[in-house]
Amino acid sequence: MIPTRRIQQELARTIENTHLPIPGRRIQGKVRDSYVLNDGRRILVATDRISAFDCVLGTIPFKGQVLNQIATFWFQQTADIAPNHVLDIPDPAVMVVAECEQLPLEFIVRGYITGVTETSAWTNYARGVRNFCGNILPDGLRKDQKLERPILTPTTKHEKHDRNLSRDEAIAEGLITPELFDTAAALCFRLFERGQQFAATRGLILVDTKYELGLRNGVLTVTDEIHTPDSSRYWFADTYDTLFRQGKEQRKLDKEYVREWLAAQGFRGEGTPPPIPDEVRIEAARRYIEVYEIVTGRSFEISEEPPVERIRRNLKERGYLGP
Ligand SMILES: Nc1ncnc2c1ncn2[C@@H]1O[C@H](COP(=O)(O)OP(=O)(O)O)[C@@H](O)[C@H]1O
Ligand SMILES: [Mg+2]
Repeated sequence: MIPTRRIQQELARTIENTHLPIPGRRIQGKVRDSYVLNDGRRILVATDRISAFDCVLGTIPFKGQVLNQIATFWFQQTADIAPNHVLDIPDPAVMVVAECEQLPLEFIVRGYITGVTETSAWTNYARGVRNFCGNILPDGLRKDQKLERPILTPTTKHEKHDRNLSRDEAIAEGLITPELFDTAAALCFRLFERGQQFAATRGLILVDTKYELGLRNGVLTVTDEIHTPDSSRYWFADTYDTLFRQGKEQRKLDKEYVREWLAAQGFRGEGTPPPIPDEVRIEAARRYIEVYEIVTGRSFEISEEPPVERIRRNLKERGYLGP
């Protein structure tokens, strides 16, 4: 456990954005800074930025390291199911990956019906939607209920806000061929099954998650991040039944904490987000670190060096910086 005082110290030196002298094209995502090299590799720097409702809201101490290390862990855990993009981990917050041709869809697999955002299954269901991205849902479901079997709900990538769609719509829009969609879907269900099984051994429920896939020399490859608290919901398994029966909120270990704090301030993606107070940033950091420790079974190791300096030093030592 990292003491609260140590997290507090880190508030002032989080990784907000990087401008590293890497010889490659820099692309800033919501959370990651990418540097695309001209030899088929991409350097993904997981910053401490937090995004919710498609907006960047500020930074959470140690978040980049947590995300990168959880993704690394899960890429190893699932390497027998599908090839992934990882080539090297030169720093706790950096992953060097194989540049892939990203599919224009994100594949969301959901084992439970929940969520508070516009694209969430529960939000839609509560409004009366019974055909959700091509999945027919029965009447009478309650928030957080386990689905009979996991469902796949694709969304579009490369659009400002995610847009839900069904398999058939994705095909009709020419985004993907039926063969590639079905292969990708089967792969995502296998990844999710492994994720749920493993999470259960740690006393967690992997509730839902988003996968990004790409083609590497024509081979379907898992890219971006996998089963991180940014791309997934995690609940504690031991209290699930009781809380569900009582109609209470689940004990969560994911980004929902910050989403709910924002929603409580009246922010759901429109207008300017409110600044996140330090105590919320610290609590969010504590939860991110907790997911890392529970999922991996390891204690979270931090360095005393400011993270941006550490990244620069590690990349230089491994020869990733220009001359
Ligand atoms: N192996 C890969 N090849 C090409 N692009 C990738 C790969 N892995 C991840 N990406 C892309 O890198 C970017 C990572 O930055 P991120 O902050 O997660 O972006 P976003 O704002 O789209 O979530 C994403 O656009 C993701 O699709
Ligand atoms: Mg992303």
